[in-house]
Amino acid sequence: MRPWAPLLLVARGALVGGDFVFVDFNETQGLRLNGDAETSACAAEAGRAHGPDERGAAPGALPAVQATTSETKRVETADTLRGRADDAPRAGLLHRDAYAYAPAPARCAGRLRLTPPRPHARGSAWHHLRRPVARGFEATFTFQLAAPTRRCAVHRDLDFSLALYERCAVRGGDGLAFVVADDPNGTAALGAAGGGLGYAGLRRALVVELDADYSPPADGFAADHVELRSAGAGAVDAAAPAHRLAPPAAWDLADGREHLVRVAYAPSVPARYAGNLSAYPAAARYAVDGGEARRLGLVTVFLDDGVAADRPALAVPLNLPEALGLPGDGTAHVGLTAATGERWQAHDVTSWAVCDRPGRDAVP
Ligand SMILES: *[C@@H]1O[C@H](CO)[C@@H](O)[C@H](O)[C@H]1NC(C)=O
Ligand SMILES: *[C@@H]1O[C@H](CO)[C@@H](O)[C@H](O)[C@H]1NC(C)=O
Ligand SMILES: *[C@@H]1O[C@H](CO)[C@@H](O)[C@H](O)[C@H]1NC(C)=O
Repeated sequence: MRPWAPLLLVARGALVGGDFVFVDFNETQGLRLNGDAETSACAAEAGRAHGPDERGAAPGALPAVQATTSETKRVETADTLRGRADDAPRAGLLHRDAYAYAPAPARCAGRLRLTPPRPHARGSAWHHLRRPVARGFEATFTFQLAAPTRRCAVHRDLDFSLALYERCAVRGGDGLAFVVADDPNGTAALGAAGGGLGYAGLRRALVVELDADYSPPADGFAADHVELRSAGAGAVDAAAPAHRLAPPAAWDLADGREHLVRVAYAPSVPARYAGNLSAYPAAARYAVDGGEARRLGLVTVFLDDGVAADRPALAVPLNLPEALGLPGDGTAHVGLTAATGERWQAHDVTSWAVCDRPGRDAVP
């Protein structure tokens, strides 16, 4: 049983008209999927369980990886991997030993697969209706990153040419994002692949980036992290430092486990988060008072245990409708995006709920 499941089931009971909840993705009425995003039914899921046997594709289906050194590099397929779970030294930045032993899902339920585990994929999923985000909302979702790239190099000892050993690096890419946007393409919006995480290029967008790859120089440090990005009414970029609104929070995202995320916007700054606020100067221009109905608000992002503990990983003061230049009704689309690049992994969302007026319909 997923530790988070009760949270979402409680949320379902608390929701009223106007909100939406996907306890899983068995039924996806109201979702608009773009690019490589798809839902997987239970039957299909059983055939590609996220257990130790899945390595991203059927044998032979993965493209060969070009050798960049004299070493023989290749991508392992399910066939070559079986029975060799603990082969010799593994190496590589951010490699994921834990992945090889990621637990299979505890139950059989439909998932929203934003990208399959293959290179250069991108996907987005939007709720079909505009949400009244300026009045405040709470979005809760669970995701799991699985079947990452596993590259092995066979090393030949030059002096004793018979001696061979193999090093494998398990490291996927690139990550996913929760997005509030009023992009001209509406629910058809889909951003760039790779480090663009499927959101780069969207206009009037606020992005909670769950970055599970290290792409220097865009990323300041070599760890999975969560950050808040926006270019106001312009097109948001995944690399521009000026679009990063606050210091990123390091968080282990690509460990193969299911993670819980809650993103909230309050149309005021709740006093209880006063000790948690952080922002870069880039965020200052969005921290404005828009008059009576558009006061300074607060974006908070909670991860895993931080949800129940009410301990935000990010708490950034800004005025959402003013920052994005939203129309008078303060509505925008909410969605999830993801992408892969040279490295890949499955970006699976296992549940998603949005509550439009958290002040009134509080989700515990
Ligand atoms: C989703 O579908 C599978 C079978 O197709 C079923 O076992 C599972 O209970 C369903 N989940 C929900 C929440 O309906
Ligand atoms: C918006 O649609 C246009 C035309 O189809 C396309 O060229 C562009 O890439 C799209 N942009 C986004 C962010 O979806
Ligand atoms: C948020 O602030 C509270 C009280 O000031 C503090 O106990 C908590 O550790 C902070 N949380 C984070 C993630 O910094």
